[in-house]
Amino acid sequence: MKDIEKVTVIGSGTMGRQIGIVAALAGFTTSIVDISEDALSAAKDELHRRMDRDVEKGRRTREDVDAAFARLSLTTNQAEAVADTDIVIEAAVEDIDIKRKVFAQLDEQSPKHAILATNSSNIVSSRLADATSRPEKVCNMHFFNPVLVMKACEVVGSDQTSQETLEAVENLAVAMGKDVIRVRKEIPGFVANRLLAAIRTEALKLYQDGYASFEDIDTAARSALRHPMGPFELMDLVGIDVAYLIRKAEYDQTGEEDSLPSPVLEKMYNSGNYGKKTGQGWYVYDEQGNKVRPSDV
Ligand code: CAA
Repeated sequence: MKDIEKVTVIGSGTMGRQIGIVAALAGFTTSIVDISEDALSAAKDELHRRMDRDVEKGRRTREDVDAAFARLSLTTNQAEAVADTDIVIEAAVEDIDIKRKVFAQLDEQSPKHAILATNSSNIVSSRLADATSRPEKVCNMHFFNPVLVMKACEVVGSDQTSQETLEAVENLAVAMGKDVIRVRKEIPGFVANRLLAAIRTEALKLYQDGYASFEDIDTAARSALRHPMGPFELMDLVGIDVAYLIRKAEYDQTGEEDSLPSPVLEKMYNSGNYGKKTGQGWYVYDEQGNKVRPSDV
């Protein structure tokens, strides 16, 4: 297998943009692709802000940051971006039909040797592999939010993924500074998100049944368990839409009532308040993304 030199990320949202800059910082020629120019420009602005802050704080040098931006391109032209890529990391919306369409396109547009990975933690790659002609090169490569900070990366193959593919993806994750968690067989949510889901489900239930306010449940997680954030704060960071769609995707795969999103999560999702990215979720945020107060839910 050819060494990975060029990385393409599909989607410039919260995850995609940071996966892209982490790959560029690690020395890979990187493209971030999105269908929306506005989304790309928002991604570029945020990445520049974050990198400027890192330089200011002495966490990175200006030279390293400039070199990373020189290796990074943001584009709406997917066909051109993937034409010479060695791997694609898809980080588009958590929707199986959209992902299958994207994987079919990527299969046509990218070189035969290219690996096609998805950042999804709930849509396992065996559900995408048959949309391509290269199931042995399809797998999950799952990062955590915020990708610039969180060290973990779960790597998961289906029955059809080759060992060679998994090794190449693990090596890439290590080169990107990540700790690899190899998940030995597919299960929606993999390891970390299943642990997280157990806490989130219990938190939503405690709140919904009136045992405590969501602020107090967050305080308990932070002050009693030393979690860096409470489960409601974390939902706002990850996105209420993502938290909701993850449950829906799990239900679609398991058919179990327990997998369904809880009614309070569904209500929040339907209100269109998706958390930090829309300025309001469980909490209200100012323009800089600082938490201002609990929202009136
Ligand atoms: N992007 C990049 N860097 C960020 C960031 C972001 N969104 N938020 C914070 N940081 C970095 C910055 O370097 C920041 O330092 P500066 O403010 O000096 O620039 C530093 O982290 C510390 O940030 P804060 O002081 O604002 O707050 P904090 O100490 O609480 O750290 C946190 C923030 C790193 C997000 C921390 O609260 C944390 O680890 N929270 C838990 C995150 C978590 O559990 N993530 C997993 C989610 S599950 C998932 O991602 C899977 C999925 O499938 C969706």
